[in-house]
Amino acid sequence: MKYVKILLVTMLISTASYSQLFAQKFEELALTPPMGWNSWNTFQTNINEPMLKAMVDAYASSGMRDAGYTYFVLDDGWMSRQRDSNGNLVADPQKFPNGMKEFADYVHSKGLKFGIYNCAGTETCAGYPGTHGYEYQDARLYASWGVDYLKFDWCNTDSINARDAYTTMSKAIRAAGRPMVFSLCEWGNHQPWLWAKNVGQLWRTTSDIHAGFDKDLSNGSWSSYSVMHIVDLQNAIRQYAGPGHWNDPDMLEVGNGMTNSEDKAHFSMWCMLAAPLIAGNDLRKMTDATKGILTNKEAIAVDQDSLGVEGFKYYSFDGLEIWVKPLKNNDIAVCFLNRSSREQNIYFDWKEHLITDTVSHMNIDFKSEAYKLRDLWIKKDVGTTNKTFKQTIAPHDVVMLRLSKL
Ligand code: GLA
Repeated sequence: MKYVKILLVTMLISTASYSQLFAQKFEELALTPPMGWNSWNTFQTNINEPMLKAMVDAYASSGMRDAGYTYFVLDDGWMSRQRDSNGNLVADPQKFPNGMKEFADYVHSKGLKFGIYNCAGTETCAGYPGTHGYEYQDARLYASWGVDYLKFDWCNTDSINARDAYTTMSKAIRAAGRPMVFSLCEWGNHQPWLWAKNVGQLWRTTSDIHAGFDKDLSNGSWSSYSVMHIVDLQNAIRQYAGPGHWNDPDMLEVGNGMTNSEDKAHFSMWCMLAAPLIAGNDLRKMTDATKGILTNKEAIAVDQDSLGVEGFKYYSFDGLEIWVKPLKNNDIAVCFLNRSSREQNIYFDWKEHLITDTVSHMNIDFKSEAYKLRDLWIKKDVGTTNKTFKQTIAPHDVVMLRLSKL
């Protein structure tokens, strides 16, 4: 009897499609910030099935999947330039000779979830067919492929109302019946934090990121922002983020050309901001340093903390900032960020600080409560709040601590 049961279960599993096995529930989407990988930051539209399958393999074998990264997201450039005679989007047959369903199945077969990209406008930013006017049809197509995540951009939208367009697509996804994380990418132009909580699970807050620490990059009519520029735009909107609805300061540039210190600072700050962690580097060629940053489970635990409170800037002076993020069980993450290009000494007497947060109603008085300190990059306990904390921070680097009550 037991044998028959096992056989039956095995048969059921092998006949159910992978996508069904990995289906999500609408109510449970993104209770913590989504984690994944996206093709844009390294490859732009130069994507194709063999390269992407190798990326999926590297995702699974490199430790990224085990560290909690889940979504594999194709950005712009996956489509043919025209819809077919029925108005359906078509995966570019040169880039995806086996079609998109087969590719989605491959992603699912590695225990990952599959994401795709389109745009609220008439065309995507790279000039492929946009979804405007095809919302329900496109959502049904994605559902039939087993899509779990949709990034929805904002190019070529001249006469379109942002709130209406994103709400329509959100309804279309619901109607298609397959739960998908809905990632709004309208760059913060229409303050989505004020209206998108029930529309999608994350919304971009700024222009595109580039792999630069504190200098923007001009692209002619618009600029890509540096990591620090983006950080500066998050503090004022932190109260709008929480479980199921996140501010998205854009995808990670870790491993894409900044120094190790800068990558570490960038990653730490994204964790402090409870940001979606969507890697954008070539996973097939990660250095150990890059891998060590992206898969630091103790830093990721700060990002993924179930309280879902976005961190805030507590202190700023002469290029040194202190960021604080309340965590569950009264733990706290504290990140000392050195934005300057010289070494800085931290000399921090906890007992002289009273830290309060109006968003999470946290009040900490280190005179009456002592905490143990854990350094999340050297991965060691480094004393308690009963003693002044002394450290030197390299330029463009961080010291990131987790505090737990003694
Ligand atoms: C916009 C988005 C980027 C990327 C490109 C694709 O610039 O903000 O993240 O998706 O479009 O064309």
